Amino acid sequence: MPRSIIVGSGKAIPPICVTNDMLARVMDTTDAWIQERSGVKTRYYVEKGTSSADLGALAAAEALANGSVDKDEVDLLISATMTPDHFFPGNGGLLQKRLGMKPLTTFDIRQQCAGFLYAMQLADVHVRSGLAKTVLIVGHEVHTGFMPYSDNSWACMYGQSEKVTPEEFEWNSRFRHLIPLFGDGAAAVVVRATDDEGRGVVDQLLRTDGTDYDKLYVPGTGFSHRPYTDPEQFKRGDHVPVMEGRHVFKLATTRMIEASQQVLTRNGVKPEDVKLVLMHQANMRINEYCAKQLGLREDQVPHNIERYGNTTAATIPLLWDEAARAGRIEKGDQILMVAFGAGMNWGATLLRA
Ligand code: UT7
Repeated sequence: MPRSIIVGSGKAIPPICVTNDMLARVMDTTDAWIQERSGVKTRYYVEKGTSSADLGALAAAEALANGSVDKDEVDLLISATMTPDHFFPGNGGLLQKRLGMKPLTTFDIRQQCAGFLYAMQLADVHVRSGLAKTVLIVGHEVHTGFMPYSDNSWACMYGQSEKVTPEEFEWNSRFRHLIPLFGDGAAAVVVRATDDEGRGVVDQLLRTDGTDYDKLYVPGTGFSHRPYTDPEQFKRGDHVPVMEGRHVFKLATTRMIEASQQVLTRNGVKPEDVKLVLMHQANMRINEYCAKQLGLREDQVPHNIERYGNTTAATIPLLWDEAARAGRIEKGDQILMVAFGAGMNWGATLLRA
């Protein structure tokens, strides 16, 4: 049975670097608080008008080039995003069009921060069954669309306006536990079939439990409303995600540790034998806690949350891309990927590079 390996990767980081001090111009926060509580120092924002499909296409093109794979060799494309260009259709077809690909099978999946791992399983079962030989997975997000700033707040953050009004400052501060954590970004990998038995996806565990879905979700602009969007929802701020940070923090650490341990144990792999553990980048403290509980060394757990913040479906392929380009992933290395996010969806993937 063929196995799936990652043969190429690429990323697209948007041009506007936003520091914590820039956020502190428009809301009640400080660089010290954000760094200490989340580990984020900067995040990158797209220019107004750039979409997740735009960023995703750039990352995908780079991944194809990096893997020396022609776009016409791809027989399955999976888009993972919680910030698609439109309610429908999903970004799959938009990526196919932007990349100039022939018609092919696409999936649009929306498992938020666990999206990349869900995409990996989908890719792997297609490869193992022989349905696909070459799969392009794109994790791509433009979170700035969630940010409920006035034009003046944007201008003030970017240093183009003196100050925000007290009302604007109060409104923006309502979201201070959320906005500083997130950044825009995209990353993609190309997965290919191999007959090399020493390589490929070894095992995957994916779980969803909707019990606590309303601890991290967007209450407004959905089809449980009629009409699905209206000015009242915007006035209330219901288009911005709700997040009960402490609750999600506890669930994230519990589930990520549990999933990692289950996958390692059932495959007889000791934590110290894993070369790298690519953890979703939601909060540096979540990952430090998980790493400690799992008995991992610092050199096993790369991070980039300090630069990019949380880029949702893009965090794990971003880590892969940076580690691979830095020569930190060699053929046959055991790599564990683990993520937790809204839904609640979580999982772990063990593979041999
Ligand atoms: O990827 C999706 C999954 N998401 C996550 O995994 C996120 C999980 N949760 C977290 O990362 C953390 O809970 C947060 C970073 C969101 C918050 O950190 P925390 O240490 O849990 O802080 P907290 O929510 O308990 O808030 C502590 C205090 C509060 O003030 P009071 O009530 O103690 O007076 C907040 O209002 O910090 C305040 N606070 C802030 N202060 C300055 C919240 N956000 C900020 C801020 N700047 N940006």
